[in-house]
Amino acid sequence: MTQEELFKKLVAHCKEYGFVFPSSEIYDGLAAVYDYGQNGVELKNNIKRYWWDSMVKLHENIVGLDAAIFMHPRTWEASGHLGAFNDPLIDNRDSKKRYRADVLIEEWLAKQDEKIEKEVEKARKRFGEAFDEAKYRETSPRVTETAARRDAVHARFAEAMNANDLAELRQIILDCEIVCPVSGTRNWTEVRQFNLMFSTQIGSVADGANTIYLRPETAQGIFVNFLNVQKTGRMKIPFGIAQIGKAFRNEIVARQFIFRMREFEQMEMQFFVRPGTEMEWWRRWRDLRMAWHCALGFGDANYRFHDHEKLAHYANAATDIEYAFPFGFKEVEGIHSRTDFDLGNHQKFSGRKMQYFDPETGESYVPYVVETSIGVDRMFLQVMSAAYCEEPLDGGDVRTVLRLPAALAPVKAAVLPLVKKDGMPEIAQRIVNDLKYDFNVVYDEKDSVGKRYRRQDAIGTPFCITVDGDTASDGMVTVRHRDSMQQERVAIDRLRAMIEEECSFRKLFRKIEL
Ligand code: GAP
Repeated sequence: MTQEELFKKLVAHCKEYGFVFPSSEIYDGLAAVYDYGQNGVELKNNIKRYWWDSMVKLHENIVGLDAAIFMHPRTWEASGHLGAFNDPLIDNRDSKKRYRADVLIEEWLAKQDEKIEKEVEKARKRFGEAFDEAKYRETSPRVTETAARRDAVHARFAEAMNANDLAELRQIILDCEIVCPVSGTRNWTEVRQFNLMFSTQIGSVADGANTIYLRPETAQGIFVNFLNVQKTGRMKIPFGIAQIGKAFRNEIVARQFIFRMREFEQMEMQFFVRPGTEMEWWRRWRDLRMAWHCALGFGDANYRFHDHEKLAHYANAATDIEYAFPFGFKEVEGIHSRTDFDLGNHQKFSGRKMQYFDPETGESYVPYVVETSIGVDRMFLQVMSAAYCEEPLDGGDVRTVLRLPAALAPVKAAVLPLVKKDGMPEIAQRIVNDLKYDFNVVYDEKDSVGKRYRRQDAIGTPFCITVDGDTASDGMVTVRHRDSMQQERVAIDRLRAMIEEECSFRKLFRKIEL
């Protein structure tokens, strides 16, 4: 199965098993907007809990916040989003389709890398044991020519992006002979900047309505509340404020399912530090955040850092944590050193002091900020991509199983009476009623036990608990484990401890306390 086919299957699986639905589907959906179904919302809540607790519970110096989505319009002038939160867009005159110029070039660069890898693989097959990969990469004219062209375009691209040189971006598209995927032509317009913020009106028009914006990042709600939290919480620098909430961006290239959405959720933490210490903290948060991802057990080799070449308007250092999605390594989270840009500008635009008196140095200053910023939906897609598995079984059958970390699984246990008689449903229901106060558990009596196992595998339920003819007399049930499919007899009064041991966040948290 190709990675593309795998991704298509994953999207279909998300819909079939109640994880993700297209928004307003009965009206043919709304592009890049999605709804979470009964299992999706549980998984999403568990991801949020994993993040929130790892920030707010594990760090004495991090507290939470829940700021409003609407903010005073001046916020976005101060933050620079009104002036600089733009994507460079280009239209194809024949297909009338609009694209991000930077994405077209990035895709061209990725294709050159693929070409090189294909050449290397072909040579490996041709030369067999004797193949010297390093030498081949250095000497094969096909490889070196493609690599040289790729590097030259990459250098031009980085320079054009940094200089906001839209004409040069267009020229690169022309020079690389990039065609529109729909019309197949090179009939491109000029490249224009397009602001990504959604706007709406507050108050009635008669009252003199004001344009306000749907926040494009949650971070600004934290910045404007910096002093409120610092003073009321008696926080001492360094300290952090964490928040989970919706953000909105009018993304033009909205593709790859929930990877890039117009309405999405962010989990952001702003860490306020003494000026001059920000790089040290930035490095520390990079490592902590990578450990948080790796603790989920999806394989450390599937993650990598990618340092930004073009820094956002507020940053002096930035890196992404990327994951090997079925469509390649892509950003899941950003760790940015935002300097004093935001607090400094809010001080300027609001006329209110955004300063902190440091009792250790006896000085007042505008703190520097290191930010960790991750999309809930993108993390959801990462977890689903990593967990989805089609596993061949003895006898030629294939089972689809979500190998989710137990702490994130939407349902922790399914309780199944073997048959619908002889008091088994009643015992099973009693087990559900006992466990439901601590865990999300379900009762299922329909179809054969084998079919019921498959249904639970498909949503990643770690335990299936079967009540059989012996349970009434010996007080034992059969527990079937999702990944190993092994079964064991367990006393009913041990079930809670067993599920707790496997599904609690404690195991994950222990791995990330660096
Ligand atoms: N406050 C900094 C900030 O917003 P960003 O790199 O633009 O930085 C941070 O976004 C994270 O938010 C990304 O790493 C990604 O996980 C998520 N994200 C950004 N745009 C998104 C979109 N259109 N759809 C889904 N997630 C998105």
